[in-house]
Amino acid sequence: MKHTDIKQIFAEGEKYAGSLVTVCGWVRTWRDSKSVAFIELNDGTSLKNLQIVIEKQTVPAESYKDALAVGAALLVKGVLLVSERNGYELSFGSVEVLGGCPADYPLQKKHHTLEFLRTIPHLRPRTKYFEAVFAVRSAISFAIHKYFRNNNYKYVHTPIITGSDCEGAGEMFRVTTNPWAGDFKTESEYYANDFFGKRANLTVSGQLEGEMAATGLGKIYTFGPTFRAEHSNTTRHAAEFWQIEPEVCFADLDDIIGIAEEFIKSIISDVLENCPDEIAYFDERVEKGLKDKLNGVISCDFARVTYTEAIEILKKSGKEFKYPVEWGCDLQTEHERYLTEEYFKKPLFVTDYPADIKAFYMKQNADGKTVAATDLLVPGIGEIIGCSERETDLAKLEEAMKKRGMPLEAYTQYLDLRKYGTVPHSGFGLGLERIIMYVTGVQNIRDALLFPRTVGSL
Ligand code: 4AD
Ligand code: MG
Repeated sequence: MKHTDIKQIFAEGEKYAGSLVTVCGWVRTWRDSKSVAFIELNDGTSLKNLQIVIEKQTVPAESYKDALAVGAALLVKGVLLVSERNGYELSFGSVEVLGGCPADYPLQKKHHTLEFLRTIPHLRPRTKYFEAVFAVRSAISFAIHKYFRNNNYKYVHTPIITGSDCEGAGEMFRVTTNPWAGDFKTESEYYANDFFGKRANLTVSGQLEGEMAATGLGKIYTFGPTFRAEHSNTTRHAAEFWQIEPEVCFADLDDIIGIAEEFIKSIISDVLENCPDEIAYFDERVEKGLKDKLNGVISCDFARVTYTEAIEILKKSGKEFKYPVEWGCDLQTEHERYLTEEYFKKPLFVTDYPADIKAFYMKQNADGKTVAATDLLVPGIGEIIGCSERETDLAKLEEAMKKRGMPLEAYTQYLDLRKYGTVPHSGFGLGLERIIMYVTGVQNIRDALLFPRTVGSL
């Protein structure tokens, strides 16, 4: 269908002003008064609606009455006019109703609660809120590719079905084609008869394969879906989320921290530049002061603290935490948020965590207790990045795996990397939905995904 995007009309209105244009879209709202009727048309390319003005004296009611329905899909022709209030508006010429919309359409009102909208995920992209969220999601994704491309990284696609467990947290979904009533006597018989002849899972991280790619390609990143059977029913955890995992050779923890900070700032600058309408909308409707916050992030130096220092700060805070703080404990969201929101008041890298609460692959520090790992915490959310330098000493790596009860024979390829031309290398994982939440002010991860998957909800 030959037509012009509404975004294009607002961007280059002077080019179209005074001439006949064709636009398509859905009716967001309409108003009818004695002499004029107005339709607010949105086609998804722009957060702004195009207003269609119908002069009732000159246009017979028959020709537009079916178009006055919230949710209806229209093709409208008319002359583009310069308007003081809206920038541009369309003087109605004719309409073709592509898809009518009856009165039981659930999005009749202008404002609905997010809880209600979660019950109609198939329709919520038609609201301004979700149009803005998905515009920013798309822009962030593009900014991520741009950053890596500009810095000589290769984009690699790591498998979604895997036999390994990268994080060792036992949160993996099983992939099987065995029938539900399969008659197997033992677990190994069950897996031996399965599609791959062994246990298969949905990946929790592309890191292990990413390291393999990086030790040939130098600098790589993955960007894909990641799955975790997390039972924690929080506003920050999804069972299916998207993760970006760069892996960088010839880089230690300090180097990768520098990269992570530059990366986050480049994403935010990009969104500020390319999504001004969306950011203005979120600033007004979702998080007051959002734009100032984002500008502050790109111009500040992120803070750094060791885990051991962080524990001291938390203990001295005088705060009553639900989870008590002791050296060796995992930091909970309440601790992370106190540190980044109240104490440092900016994005914060916590480094050198106890080895026992972190994954097997992290480089062991000389103190024998901690690892060269860091989490990036941000106000309002907590952890958005998990990062580490990788252990390259084969003996130490094997020892860490044995300590965790991992079957070494399942990781021979990974261990080979340490045998053949090993190099210092580091990487991190950024949760796409977490950075979307940070950049938009969206409070619930369910509102950063098109079809959120969480425990008990598919
Ligand atoms: O800290 P995580 O578990 O780190 C890894 O997976 C490493 N393999 C990354 C690496 O070094 N290559 O996860 C990384 C990030 C978290 O900081 C968080 O932003 C996000 O992934 N994340 C989740 N996001 C949404 N829902 C969940 N259930 C998430 N689990 C982790
Ligand atoms: Mg983590």
